Amino acid sequence: MSRLLKDAHTEVLVIGGGIIGLAVAWRAAQHGAGRVIVVDPSHGHGAAGVAAGMLAPVTEVQYGEEPLLRLNTASNERYAAFAAELTEASGGLDTGYRRCGTIAVALDSDDREELRDLHAFHQRLGLDSTWLTGREARKLEPMLAPGVRGALYAADDHQVDPRRLLKALYAACEGANVLLHRAEALELLIEDGRATGARLSTGESVTADQVVLAAGPRSHRLPGLPEGVLPAIRPVKGQILRLRVPQAYRPFLSRNVRAVVRGQHLYVVPREDGELVIGATSEEQGYDTTVTAGGVYELLRDAHELVPGITELPLVETAAGLRPGSPDNAPLLGPTSLPGLVAATGHYRNGVLLTPVTADLLGEYLATGELPDLAQPFTPTRFATKAAA
Ligand code: GLY
Repeated sequence: MSRLLKDAHTEVLVIGGGIIGLAVAWRAAQHGAGRVIVVDPSHGHGAAGVAAGMLAPVTEVQYGEEPLLRLNTASNERYAAFAAELTEASGGLDTGYRRCGTIAVALDSDDREELRDLHAFHQRLGLDSTWLTGREARKLEPMLAPGVRGALYAADDHQVDPRRLLKALYAACEGANVLLHRAEALELLIEDGRATGARLSTGESVTADQVVLAAGPRSHRLPGLPEGVLPAIRPVKGQILRLRVPQAYRPFLSRNVRAVVRGQHLYVVPREDGELVIGATSEEQGYDTTVTAGGVYELLRDAHELVPGITELPLVETAAGLRPGSPDNAPLLGPTSLPGLVAATGHYRNGVLLTPVTADLLGEYLATGELPDLAQPFTPTRFATKAAA
């Protein structure tokens, strides 16, 4: 982390040093947007440091969210190249990107009907998903519960390790001369109806030609932000567990496994290094990130129904993060109704998945002033109220 010279000026100031802010900063610098500074009191301590990193445009597709599916799919298709470029730019850091596919499992006959409907939806959308009998699913993943009633195999849903991704992004940013500055943005500065920078907790101010707000569920709470420019971004808590698969038990699972158990989405993400991530709760109760006994209990109980052998594994970590949910659950990408202020927030359940495409689209916008067509359905102005217009 670097120190600023007092009262610096920059072409691009990014508020928020999570994976979205870092990736946008990296791409903006690469595209020639000028000097780029990222401010955050604790870079990388947001949701990505907690997330499992499942890349699931197919198995997490929601009815009525087809425009978001296009964005998710575009990002998924960019992931392999993005990860490879990041590894090179970071001097060889592996992001944990792994093309493993995902099995979505039905544990009873009601689940099986729902999964059949999802399969039909996938087929209407032209997504790659294959129906498996319970026996076929267990042949692929022998650790699945014996009672599995059917499953979908999504060959295009993969995984990345968000913690490794963060490390690679830091290194790539530093390599591209992005300044990572440890400070909190206390206030958005506005002059003549234009965002011009931020006042920081370190006593400095940074003025900027363009300010990018990438502060996740805290984005709309930045003091100084005029009412109506951004909608409220709701924090949606996810609790998650990390287990370790001892060498003798590997491979425990070879692909991501997921199910809906008692109405809750559950997923198990096995990494090549033996980490096994079980997620995640979905709780809307403000900015609290307490890990609760009930959350851990429910995750273990449901995961045990899906993969009974998990109870043999050491539990090494519990954590909770906040997904940033916009009013329509789709991200806010591009210029806001306040000149000079650009949004990169509200990615909800898809922050890790949408990192490559968000970085590409906003990197291009920051360098050229042109927002690519793919981002047009996601501009924050779709929520702008009259107060800000
Ligand atoms: N996309 C997984 C989650 O938000 O839990």
